[in-house]
Amino acid sequence: MTRRKALLLAGAGAVSAGVGAAGLLRGWGSPTSTVSGSPGAVPTGDRFVEPTVIASEGGRLHVTLSAAAGRVTIAGRSVQAMSYNGSVPGPTLRLRPGDRVTLDLVNRLGASTNLHTHGLHVSAERNGDNPFLHIRDGETFRYEYEIPRDHPAGTFWYHPHLHGTVADQLFAGLMGAIVVQRDDSVPLPAQRERVLVITDTTLNGDRIAQANQRGRMLGREGELVLVNGRLKPTMTVSPGGYEHWHIINACTSRFMRLRLEGAELLQVAGDTGRLATPTQVDNILLATGNRAELLVRIPGPGRHQLVAEPVDRGGMGMGLGRGNAGGDTPATLLQVEAAGEAAATPQLPGRLVEPEDLRAVAVNGRRTLTFAMEMGRGMGGGMSFTIDGKEFDPDRVDAAVRLDTVEEWTVRNTSPMNHPFHLHVWPVQLVARDGSPVEGNPQWYDVVILPARSSVTVRVRFTDFPGRTVYHCHILDHEDLGMMGVVEALR
Ligand code: C2O
Ligand code: CU
Ligand code: CU
Repeated sequence: MTRRKALLLAGAGAVSAGVGAAGLLRGWGSPTSTVSGSPGAVPTGDRFVEPTVIASEGGRLHVTLSAAAGRVTIAGRSVQAMSYNGSVPGPTLRLRPGDRVTLDLVNRLGASTNLHTHGLHVSAERNGDNPFLHIRDGETFRYEYEIPRDHPAGTFWYHPHLHGTVADQLFAGLMGAIVVQRDDSVPLPAQRERVLVITDTTLNGDRIAQANQRGRMLGREGELVLVNGRLKPTMTVSPGGYEHWHIINACTSRFMRLRLEGAELLQVAGDTGRLATPTQVDNILLATGNRAELLVRIPGPGRHQLVAEPVDRGGMGMGLGRGNAGGDTPATLLQVEAAGEAAATPQLPGRLVEPEDLRAVAVNGRRTLTFAMEMGRGMGGGMSFTIDGKEFDPDRVDAAVRLDTVEEWTVRNTSPMNHPFHLHVWPVQLVARDGSPVEGNPQWYDVVILPARSSVTVRVRFTDFPGRTVYHCHILDHEDLGMMGVVEALR
């Protein structure tokens, strides 16, 4: 039995012992049912708040992140959870290109962990964004990141990445935002910026609920969908002008379609930085891990709701349940109150950036990756989650690539569930879905939705950083179950 399987069994045992069979059948123990009863004592009506900001100065940032198990406030309740620096989400890190970042990760979780800077284009070697590290309980580890001078402005985030424990630790409260700003970005006519870290979790009394085996296979979704750790908080905006929102889907598994009726929404950035032009959208689809930056304008005084519509991400097939636990009920994330005199609507810039387009370049190599779920091969005859028929092995290199080449990867999914494909370090350009070319403006991501029984084709320019890192399904339960591979960039 592998260590991961042992952990998984231990986890499942703890659930049965802790909450009994009734607990297993509640909440995402039965991910198809809508939530049994309301979350009861969870207070709503909080004010919208943002995580504390820690910003670099003069090209340097020195920050300590203390990952600890203990009491924190989540959804207005004091609960036993995990947090960075005592708050869920952890502090927002504001960086600039050229920064040297020293980050001391203090581990007081009572379990091993590590840290991943999701979406940052930085080295994955040594004490950089290295997903292979184990930081043991009681240890302090110094991470160092050098943000390249040409790093795009954008919205990124950090979360633990120790294989086998990622979903549990994120669900328990470990995540935070990273914003990279550039002095030479085209200015956006926004009256203010805001960061919205969207997470979900389930409370079981004053604790975070544990996942059972089925919840892990489907990808757990929490009963509570929170914005910056609060349930349906109220945000006050002034009508007429634009606000610039940085939105992160930091849920473990949940996909969501965000809508804000009565508002004008212009998307200005995606996962990996700015879009070519501000793009009017009616809603925005975010898989787990995806980000979007929006210019939001509410024309006049009134009350509006930001809602997350559930997204069907397939199921296990054979009647074993579907992924979206909330059924078809949209979750209200935020009450937006526009009050006061409407300001004049500012003029928008036409062009934001000139994005690279890899559709026009010669490809140096092609490969195919197959994401699959197979019955009877996983633990106890359960489901296995594989890429090219293999579960994750940190000691195996699955894809060796040459630096300074462009590769085309066709990622196939033979299973009845979606698996959002995520590559560390290098952004990917979506060039085809099921073999049909993607037209129009270049679409860059670091998490690409890979629908059930289909394929996506992406192109990647492997620049700058030699060394090993990973690609995986960003339904983090699937990643923990083995749906992850190792890529090594060679000089
Ligand atoms: Cu946010 Cu390897 O992931
Ligand atoms: Cu990542
Ligand atoms: Cu998956």
